[in-house]
Amino acid sequence: MKRELKLSMVIPVQSHSMIHIKSKNEIIKMRDACKLAREVLQETAGIASAGRSTLELNDFADKYTRKKGAVSAPLNYKGFPKSICTSINDVVCHGIPSKNEILKEGDIINIDITVKLNGYHGDTSRMVAIGNIPEKTEMLLKDTEQAMYTGIDAIKPSGRISDIGNAIDDFLTPKGYGIVRDLTGHGIGRNFHEEPTVPHYRQKHINHLIRPGMIFTVEPMVNMGAHTVTINENDGWTVTTADGSLSAQYEHTCLVTEDGYEILTKD
Ligand code: MF3
Ligand code: CO
Ligand code: CO
Repeated sequence: MKRELKLSMVIPVQSHSMIHIKSKNEIIKMRDACKLAREVLQETAGIASAGRSTLELNDFADKYTRKKGAVSAPLNYKGFPKSICTSINDVVCHGIPSKNEILKEGDIINIDITVKLNGYHGDTSRMVAIGNIPEKTEMLLKDTEQAMYTGIDAIKPSGRISDIGNAIDDFLTPKGYGIVRDLTGHGIGRNFHEEPTVPHYRQKHINHLIRPGMIFTVEPMVNMGAHTVTINENDGWTVTTADGSLSAQYEHTCLVTEDGYEILTKD
């Protein structure tokens, strides 16, 4: 108890200088970027169907984004070769769209869209089931989306970033899922990724204080099996479950307000 008290007094002072608090004007720009990301995601999800390649989804999203005067943030980001991420079945995240990857009945796919509009980023993702999927897989998708909302609902000004992962963990772990640890949510704004890091699993220590004007993503990656993941050595990007089990993810960009939060990527 004593130790925790001490930590809570020290950590915010050290960490806060790193976390950008957005100005009113920046929040307006973030709203616009996030609204567009949402729109691109919904439209792209709408054309995902059996027989289409993930490259078609990529090209559709990229064109749509440009038409709206924005750019796809993933393209050339740290060397990423395409405009969106498409992650099928046991791919956890950062799947690279390809003309050789054809969607088929029974697949589950995460489509992750990040746009940059007037210098600011909006980041959101969701799952799409291709045709019929088994009930257990349906539950994975439902539970993952609910886990994201459970995490978002733990956002409270003067609460802690760790509250988010703790809430998600309490919801998912009793159900037997593995919550990915190696990838996290993140602050977002002028930068695609900035402070703070937002873990989706239980934290041993309390961490950053949540303050109004912070903007970060909540984007749990949830495995049917173990939480461990591996990165494809050939492309350096594709993250898959280590045990080959299915994985799902949903993502929203969230603004901390005076009395709670606003989901910027929600319609
Ligand atoms: N959109 C992903 C996220 O939610 C990041 C993709 S990075 C990329 O943070 F380079 F793979 F595009
Ligand atoms: Co993100
Ligand atoms: Co994303």
